[in-house]
Amino acid sequence: MADNDLPPRLTRLTFHGPLSESRAAGMVARLTRREPASVLDIGCGWGELMLRILEAAPGAKGLGVDLNAVDLARGRNNAAERGLAGRVEFLEESAVGTPRGPADVVLCLSSGHALLDADADADADADADAGPEAPSATEAALHALRPLVAPGGRLLFGEGFWQRTPTPAELATMWPDASADDHLPLAAVTAAATAAGFRVEWIETATEEEWERFESGYLADLEEWLASHEGHPLAEETRERVDRHRASWLRGYRGVLGLVHLTLIPVG
Ligand SMILES: C[S@@+](CC[C@H](N)C(=O)[O-])C[C@H]1O[C@@H](n2cnc3c(N)ncnc32)[C@H](O)[C@@H]1O
Repeated sequence: MADNDLPPRLTRLTFHGPLSESRAAGMVARLTRREPASVLDIGCGWGELMLRILEAAPGAKGLGVDLNAVDLARGRNNAAERGLAGRVEFLEESAVGTPRGPADVVLCLSSGHALLDADADADADADADAGPEAPSATEAALHALRPLVAPGGRLLFGEGFWQRTPTPAELATMWPDASADDHLPLAAVTAAATAAGFRVEWIETATEEEWERFESGYLADLEEWLASHEGHPLAEETRERVDRHRASWLRGYRGVLGLVHLTLIPVG
């Protein structure tokens, strides 16, 4: 068994989010109906959906931007194995204020934060304390995405939303500084998309089964590693990280945080 003795990273996930094979296939078919020539993936990670779009649209070129060098390398390797290396670039750069685009298909899958300046977020939080006018992160991300989409193109926007208002106890276990302001309800996410200059072609929300496959796959390789690496110098911190993550799901956001994928058409 190949084992470099370090904890593995997300090797049991195909997509870095709750997304089934059948839903992904439907998205690829929808996004390639109009034979796009360019695909831009914001916060792409290893860009699996972008690669599938390139396979389905042989005339298209792809560009993914992300800060995570390990995930970008995984994307480049996958592209090379599938004969796509000449048609896709994975760039290690921030999406904040990106000059990339416009593109015929833009993907922003659970990566809206990648477009937003963390300092500006802090200012917006301060503004929100002063009054209700500051845009939410979802609204700000959609406004940043609008100019990146070419006329007649499509944006696939994967975004978290509250299925119901989280309780204080749930928020306390979700993630550091989790707040009820971190997300909008589904109707408000969709309204934010229309307010940012899009019409909504398709709405789909992740099922409980997709969440369970994602959350299990997220930790499965680490659980296998832990079971055979007792006493390893990294075992204790890895066990704490895994247990904390699972608790944040089961006691925090399970059934509370939803994930919607909106297929959006730019207006005008
Ligand atoms: C939840 S992952 C989603 C990855 C990918 N879109 C997918 O669905 O598989 C969020 C990604 O955003 C990236 N990210 C965070 N801040 C960023 C920034 N300022 N610029 C570009 N990418 C960023 C992270 O490195 C991470 O890969």
